[in-house]
Amino acid sequence: MARLENKVAIITGSGSGIGKEIAITYAKEGANIVVADFNEAGIQQTVKELNELGTKAIGVKVDVTNEEDISKMVDETVKAFGTIDILVNNAGISDNMQAAANVTDDVWERVMNINVNGVMRGIRKVLPIFLEKGAGTIVNMASISGLTGGRGGLAYTASKHAVVGMTKNIASQYGPQNIRCNAIGPAHIPTPLTENMANIDTFGMEVATRGVNTMVKPGTTSEIANIALFLASEESSYINGVTLAADFGWSAY
Ligand SMILES: NC(=O)c1ccc[n+]([C@@H]2O[C@H](COP(=O)([O-])OP(=O)(O)OC[C@H]3O[C@@H](n4cnc5c(N)ncnc54)[C@H](O)[C@@H]3O)[C@@H](O)[C@H]2O)c1
Repeated sequence: MARLENKVAIITGSGSGIGKEIAITYAKEGANIVVADFNEAGIQQTVKELNELGTKAIGVKVDVTNEEDISKMVDETVKAFGTIDILVNNAGISDNMQAAANVTDDVWERVMNINVNGVMRGIRKVLPIFLEKGAGTIVNMASISGLTGGRGGLAYTASKHAVVGMTKNIASQYGPQNIRCNAIGPAHIPTPLTENMANIDTFGMEVATRGVNTMVKPGTTSEIANIALFLASEESSYINGVTLAADFGWSAY
């Protein structure tokens, strides 16, 4: 049997990069997929590729910062597939490496809204369904910046630490109801997010990349998607509340 046979998975930010790869990886293991993103072209492309694999997939245009959109995402999932088994909170943005002295309110608020509030909104909305079923799995996309202090800008680092904290809180408080919540902390994975950074804070970039020479190699989207598969599947059934560093030992130095 496939590892996610007939499971229903919502993956936010799956119109691109890591989220798209998770959608394809889950689909190949038998899951039905909800592609939730605010980029319509990205949604259509991912859904098309999933359909070509023979997967049942729907796309929902969602801004994860918007409560109504989150409700729509969950309602449309239940309408299409009857339930939800897995929520992957992957949508996220960078802060262009803005260091503390240079952080703008605009960037701070946007990063917190998407990377933190968006995760909270998704979790809050699926929990009643998971509680009713007595089962459910959440996979949050944190970052190595959620486990270390100096590898991103202020807002991004703070936001990903919040994701790590939410992951532990959910595991601790809802584990007894058979709900698992784990996270992944990737280092550097080339995607549109890392390739298209604009208005980079020169000082912030310089200080955040001091240790890059100790990073053995960047990772790939499929290496991260494989971790997301493990964390969503029964193979990780005894793991709850963990953020797994995916950095080939970079943070072990
Ligand atoms: N690429 C890396 O090196 C790296 C490292 C650590 C963590 N991450 C995390 O991985 C996740 C995915 O990043 P990626 O590199 O694949 O980036 P990406 O830019 O390729 O993909 C992110 C997707 O999220 C969507 N998105 C952004 N804001 C949204 C919103 N408000 N509502 C709905 N969708 C939204 C975008 O449209 C895009 O499709 C992010 O949370 C990021 O912080 C990435």
